[in-house]
Amino acid sequence: MQVVVGGGIVGLSVAWRLARAGRPVTVVDPAPASGASHAAAGMLAPVSEVTYTEEPLLRLGMASLRRWPSFAADLIADAGLPTTGLTPVTPAEGGPAPRAGRAPTDGGGLDFRSDGTLDVAFGADDLAALDELATFMEKLGLPVERLTGRECRRLEPMLAPSVRGGLLAPGDAWVDPRRVTAALLVALERRGVPLVRARVTELIREGGAVTGVRLAPPGHDVPAQPPPGHGVPTEIPGGRDVPGEIRAERVVLAAGAWSAELAEVPVRPVKGQIMRLRSPQPLLGRCVRGTVHGASVYLVPRGDGELVVGATQEELGFDRRVTAGGVYELLRDARELVPGVTELEVAEMVAGLRPGTPDNVPLIGPSATPGLHLATGHHRGGVLLAPLTAAMLQGEESELAQLCSPLRYRDIS
Ligand code: GLY
Repeated sequence: MQVVVGGGIVGLSVAWRLARAGRPVTVVDPAPASGASHAAAGMLAPVSEVTYTEEPLLRLGMASLRRWPSFAADLIADAGLPTTGLTPVTPAEGGPAPRAGRAPTDGGGLDFRSDGTLDVAFGADDLAALDELATFMEKLGLPVERLTGRECRRLEPMLAPSVRGGLLAPGDAWVDPRRVTAALLVALERRGVPLVRARVTELIREGGAVTGVRLAPPGHDVPAQPPPGHGVPTEIPGGRDVPGEIRAERVVLAAGAWSAELAEVPVRPVKGQIMRLRSPQPLLGRCVRGTVHGASVYLVPRGDGELVVGATQEELGFDRRVTAGGVYELLRDARELVPGVTELEVAEMVAGLRPGTPDNVPLIGPSATPGLHLATGHHRGGVLLAPLTAAMLQGEESELAQLCSPLRYRDIS
């Protein structure tokens, strides 16, 4: 039996893949799908998020992006979501033109869409930085297209006239993480996977090995209400009475930013605030990222018209407060790129904690402690890397798994 500690997108994906392979597994989380996955915008954008020093992350991201279409299709089937009947949506007046041969849709049950990311520059300094990045991307052989400001506005008419130029990454995609975690919970229930709504207080260690988990008493630390937001079930399926401990051959630690409370792992919380805006019609046809005098912002459209604007990056420990400064920063930069955002209704502000590692590469696979496997430290890439992580924990992708091996840090136990 395996126990997965953590019911975010990574833990649930790992458990689902194990269950699909016929392996007995239990998930433990006091409030599944309420952490970083609940706040995430869901960009699956390894190309447009590439940075100069993080080529390993690019390789991981590209490999996981390739897995996303079949991951989404299998999940839709397993969760019993409709595979057809994508709801056509009408672009806002002056909004993006329908793409040739295909009506804009809500992307199906998971709102999974692969229409690319448009990375735009606001100031002359931003354009110079984007040009340099484009040269780097071209050297890496990444499929990107340089665009003038006018070409950017042709693709996305709601962009500000002051946008000076951009870069299209046509292969990037995005998904609604809340729909994904809700579907994973249903799929797990349909496969009979127990979900224990309790907090793990410690890993059981015997003879130098991890042999299970100890749980907080029933009702302790369990929120009265699941988190708000569409797609999150009000009754978590598959719940059962909480015993004091669960024994397991293998414990998979997938507790995100909280992983360091249970094991010696170099994971720290990196706060991200995002804003969800509501619009009757989509304002954008694809993800738009941009830099405004060096500050990054992204806007992710949902099929139902919602627009997610993110995200701050703050090193403040376990602080999950939404702040006036966070709201200001996001709106200030988003408005420079897409002035129409100020007309939209604010649906929600939410803060999540990304699990950061010293090298920004996740910790996936066996640790030096027998019985303890890790699936944590995904920092900005938990949604993108969930399918790859689940595959790695099944022994697939051994070459890429080397990059993520927890054994690169000596002190993990
Ligand atoms: N992946 C985007 C973020 O973490 O803000």
